[in-house]
Amino acid sequence: MGETLAETFVSNGHPTTVWNRTPGKVVEGATHAPTAAEAVAASEVVVVCVLDYKAAREVLDPIDLTGKAVVNLTNGTPAHAREFVRGDYLDGGIMAVPQMIGTPEAIVLYSGSRTVFDNYQDTLNVLGQSRFVGEDPGLAALYDLALLSAMYGQFAGAKHALDMVGANRGDFVETLLIPWLTSTMVAIPVLGQSDPQSPDDMQAVAIGNIIEANEDLGLGQPGHLR
Ligand SMILES: NC(=O)c1ccc[n+]([C@@H]2O[C@H](COP(=O)([O-])OP(=O)(O)OC[C@H]3O[C@@H](n4cnc5c(N)ncnc54)[C@H](OP(=O)(O)O)[C@@H]3O)[C@@H](O)[C@H]2O)c1
Repeated sequence: MGETLAETFVSNGHPTTVWNRTPGKVVEGATHAPTAAEAVAASEVVVVCVLDYKAAREVLDPIDLTGKAVVNLTNGTPAHAREFVRGDYLDGGIMAVPQMIGTPEAIVLYSGSRTVFDNYQDTLNVLGQSRFVGEDPGLAALYDLALLSAMYGQFAGAKHALDMVGANRGDFVETLLIPWLTSTMVAIPVLGQSDPQSPDDMQAVAIGNIIEANEDLGLGQPGHLR
């Protein structure tokens, strides 16, 4: 991801200095610094994207970040982000895979210093849609993990649906599963509220039927319905 972020800054005309723990990852058009400290010294804005906050601390703890705008796009928890704050700090969550970076489909969430966001929004916008979600540095991570949780839950259900249809799959995904999931999105804003048109007792019967059908299919109890 870091490589793609750097390539995107370079291709949009932003002078970029890169550093990676293992040398040899080349970003065409960027300056390659021999150490993280030299990359930081060369830069007004420091964009960090490593595996986790432990790695980010290992890289940045020895470096004085006073007066630097630090934009940390490493995935972590809200607590990780709040504990990490250093320099003029903006935390971020990338809601995209590398292939989406630089397109309008990529959303990057930011929280923390409003000043850093306002000063560098034009630069950050080259990565995708920038969304500032609040001055609490943990908020971007909170929304990031909540969105990922919704995605993984949906994927678990969809994977289970595919296990159920098995050899009967045909064009089930294209003509039924995707349109069905898309149409059910309207229920999200009222989740948790009972709907007289779709009572909980009726839904409990349907869930019981799914469980029974799964036993008949030899699939065991679906984890996402427990
Ligand atoms: N890839 C995605 O689809 C995606 C999407 C959204 C968000 N993200 C987030 O972006 C971040 C990076 O993900 P990635 O896909 O780039 O992962 P990755 O391909 O596994 O790369 C991990 C990066 O972290 C560096 N690193 C790991 N441990 C380190 C340490 N102790 N000290 C210094 N550098 C260290 C690695 O350096 P070496 O090259 O030296 O190993 C590498 O540059 C993660 O927080 C991830 O959750 C990724």
